[in-house]
Amino acid sequence: MDQATFVKKAMGTTAEAVEKLLDKQLPVPDGSEKRVVEAMRYALFAGGKRLRPFLVVASASLFDVKKERALRVAAALECVHTYSLIHDDLPAMDNDELRRGRPTTHIAYDEATAILAGDGLLTLAFEILADEATHSDSHVRSELVLSLAKAAGIHGMVGGQMMDLAAAVNGLDMGEVTRLQQLKTGALIIYGAEAGAILAKAPTRPRHALVGYARDLGLAFQIVDDLLDIEGDEEELGKAVGKDEDAGKATFVSLLGVDRARQQAKLLSEQAIEYLQDFDDKALLLRSLAEFVISRRN
Ligand code: IPE
Ligand code: IPE
Ligand code: MG
Ligand code: MG
Ligand code: MG
Repeated sequence: MDQATFVKKAMGTTAEAVEKLLDKQLPVPDGSEKRVVEAMRYALFAGGKRLRPFLVVASASLFDVKKERALRVAAALECVHTYSLIHDDLPAMDNDELRRGRPTTHIAYDEATAILAGDGLLTLAFEILADEATHSDSHVRSELVLSLAKAAGIHGMVGGQMMDLAAAVNGLDMGEVTRLQQLKTGALIIYGAEAGAILAKAPTRPRHALVGYARDLGLAFQIVDDLLDIEGDEEELGKAVGKDEDAGKATFVSLLGVDRARQQAKLLSEQAIEYLQDFDDKALLLRSLAEFVISRRN
């Protein structure tokens, strides 16, 4: 089996397990809140690569972490990510009508329901993390909650999204675009890789290695997202293409051009892999993931 097939298969297995868990966490109620839960499920169970859950499971697999615990954190992170997509697609933000191969949540339902579905997913994530089933040690649970709150919040994804919106008006230089991408996309990806270490109460050294790995991986991932917006295929991607240029978004591609942006993504992927030296064969999944991220077509 080549590396690409190997990592895709492993991602598929994790995706299935996480979806099963999410399905259990989110039964459709009878009452008037039924509609918002349906919208949450609509956005969640529409496919998606489940890259962030995979990072949690793969980083946890470097240590002695119970699978069930890693899957719960993986599910929580996917809830936050899916919420970020629902809100990112709203008319007030990127105004997109296609996501994960289907009409976006505000198109399939309505804007108010989409906003609430996002809110519901964000809060569900913390409900899952804070539950004793996630870890018996309350300190570990509290660290999982604190780190995710920081990664998702004003100094993480939300801050990056704010910069992204402002940048379309003001323009940014390389340093600023790097910071934007690190916040908007990198923060949740770093959390995914760090979560395995938090669950394992791992020492500083492997933890820092995982954070270093994910910092470069996250940047590479967003550069490829920006490249796919230009070179990708709508059908394959499951979302509209050509939107960034129309919206005047500040990206690595708008600053460097396609070729240099691709080179940069490759360099970052190689740099990411270098952080994994201490882990030997155990890190095969994470190494393969860094290759997958730059070769992906969706
Ligand atoms: C899209 O994320 C938004 C970005 C942060 C680039 P993904 O490419 O991981 O989207 P899904 O989860 O596979 O749909
Ligand atoms: C979104 O970035 C990052 C999020 C925090 C959701 P993009 O706006 O580039 O993501 P896509 O291209 O719509 O998936
Ligand atoms: Mg956006
Ligand atoms: Mg968008
Ligand atoms: Mg994009």
